[in-house]
Amino acid sequence: MVRINPSILAADFVNMEHELGRIATADLVHVDVMDNHFVPNLTFGPQMVGRIQEVSAIPLDVHLMIDDPDRWAPGYAELGAHSVTFHAEAAADPVALARRLREIGARAGIALKPATDPDAYLGLLEEFDQVLVMTVEPGFGGQSFQPQTMPKLRRLRQAVNARGLDVWLQVDGGITEETIVTAAEAGADTFVAGSSVFRAQNPAAQISLLRDRAAEHEHPSRV
Ligand code: DX5
Ligand code: ZN
Repeated sequence: MVRINPSILAADFVNMEHELGRIATADLVHVDVMDNHFVPNLTFGPQMVGRIQEVSAIPLDVHLMIDDPDRWAPGYAELGAHSVTFHAEAAADPVALARRLREIGARAGIALKPATDPDAYLGLLEEFDQVLVMTVEPGFGGQSFQPQTMPKLRRLRQAVNARGLDVWLQVDGGITEETIVTAAEAGADTFVAGSSVFRAQNPAAQISLLRDRAAEHEHPSRV
């Protein structure tokens, strides 16, 4: 199954409720939390995410680009986020944190920067509901998709299928109607798209185009 999660990093922050209305046909809304420490950019924190949660018609897919997620991530799950994804590079105890997120009732996600090797996490896939393969360096929207991250995605897809797991494989960064084909063929099933959706004249049409392109090139989801 293909999921399209528009990233509100590319939305107009001053008109967020209106912007959420433009992506009502999406699967989840991707919410990028940045702390100006883990990444050199700053967005918003729990107060804003809580308010988005209250007004959004679709569930929240929170992506934490922050230091010390062990301390902060559970709070986002408590706000009611559908999924909370923290960075492997930032977490002191990823397994304990994922268990805590699940206990609260959120899906637990782990994100890997482009240079992070997935090997250490392949044996722990049961602990997570989704793995986010960053296809750009985290911190900013509007960057170019890095195809050199695809071998990592293929390894994750192979591991997930070989063990019959239902772990969503997400890509984030530079996803367009062209690059989504490459990511779908490599095994992604969940696609974050910021600029490509919010800069479109008609975001609903762009979501539907992305969905069709990914579905046409979907990797067999089970072996
Ligand atoms: C980047 C963020 C992304 C970003 C993607 O650090 O995690 O979610 O919004 O934006 P685009 O689709 O413009 O590359
Ligand atoms: Zn993101």
